[in-house]
Amino acid sequence: MKLSAASLRQRKSVSPIPMLTAYTTPVARCLERAGIPVILVGDTVGMVEMGFASTREVTLDHMCYHIGAVRRGAGDTHIIGDLPYDSDRDPETALRSARRLLEAGADSVKLEGPKYEVIRHLVAHGIEVVGHTGLTPQTAANFRQVGREAADAERVRAEAVGIAEAGAFLIVLEHIPTTLAETITGTLPIPTIGIGAGPACDGQVLVINDAIGLGDRWPPFSRQYAYMSRTIVEAASTYAKQVREGSY
Ligand code: KIV
Repeated sequence: MKLSAASLRQRKSVSPIPMLTAYTTPVARCLERAGIPVILVGDTVGMVEMGFASTREVTLDHMCYHIGAVRRGAGDTHIIGDLPYDSDRDPETALRSARRLLEAGADSVKLEGPKYEVIRHLVAHGIEVVGHTGLTPQTAANFRQVGREAADAERVRAEAVGIAEAGAFLIVLEHIPTTLAETITGTLPIPTIGIGAGPACDGQVLVINDAIGLGDRWPPFSRQYAYMSRTIVEAASTYAKQVREGSY
């Protein structure tokens, strides 16, 4: 059964929320079969599936294409669609962009950073919003952990509070110290979903390619639960050998 934003919000301090990203129909189908209740169609698709150097190259059309594919594979799963870089630059643009993601199949949208006015505008128009603070890849200069120094930790904490107050029903905390994630989780009335933020959050999200070992390098905080790149190389090598030998 598909979880609504309200029921996800109510899972705060009740049971941890396992979330993964997905970008394609077959992977979405697997995640739904595995009982993953929330799928994020993240703009990480640009880096892990499309070969771009950053998420800034991802467009709204790309996101709609991938959200549609994921929806066709996971009809009963809550899907969060990521608003790509600059598609949420002001409240009206964000509203138009968010509506396109919902039309493509998303149940809610995620946006990066302390865009309180944008969040309030989307929520006022009936759109469920997921916030994102800590490391925000669309604007980050590098992928180092943030919130280590006291002033930066306070900035991240204040942003998380502001995002929740603006009306987000969930918030992603990316690549921040465990203790800071624990403090924020204890403060906010909405569930926190960590990625590289330790185990004290209300849930965890990983990029599917990192989790299944599909790619060349993975962030230090992401566990690999499989090594799909290795499996594909082995399968393709066996196939090539059999074709060369005529034994297929
Ligand atoms: O785009 C994405 O996949 C994300 C996750 C890293 C949280 O925002």
